[in-house]
Amino acid sequence: MITRFKIILIALSLITPTILMGHKVTLEDKSLEEIVNNRMALMQKVKSTSSQIFRLLKTNDYEAILELNETLLHAATEFKDHYPEGSQHKGASEEIWNDRETFNELNDKFVSDIEMISLSAEFEDSEMLNDAFKVMAANCGACHKKFRN
Ligand code: HEC
Repeated sequence: MITRFKIILIALSLITPTILMGHKVTLEDKSLEEIVNNRMALMQKVKSTSSQIFRLLKTNDYEAILELNETLLHAATEFKDHYPEGSQHKGASEEIWNDRETFNELNDKFVSDIEMISLSAEFEDSEMLNDAFKVMAANCGACHKKFRN
């Protein structure tokens, strides 16, 4: 009886590391998937908030614009931190990892152009707001051309 118990224990201790390692691989895969999903979700947020702001430009509803622009600002500010080493994946160009400096610069420019929208809305200056929106929207294509596959 005791011997059989010992055999089971030994067998378990041999199996456990394999189970743990198997588990670890799955977790790592899942976290890459999570990272990719999170950054896609941020871009979806960028897309939906910017098009909502666009539709509001003619209304002079500065309060609604400011609120949406805060959400846009948060998504844009967070975005660049979702590209750690080893998270290379389909839609993201290799250039993000090859030329991180330019990628960061474009992200920073995007963020400061979004801040100009808030400033114009606070001034309730519709001409400035329209210009600020155009300048902000030019970032989408500029960045996608270089950094999106
Ligand atoms: C600083 C760079 C940068 C800027 C600025 C930028 N994007 Fe992106 N965008 C990307 C990258 C990189 C991807 C690819 C994401 C990936 O696969 O990791 C992407 C992907 C997307 C996607 C696809 C998301 C999905 O779920 O498939 C949409 C939609 C999008 N961007 C919209 C926009 C819009 C609209 C703007 C401007 C208001 C914008 N982006 C500005 C870099 C940028």
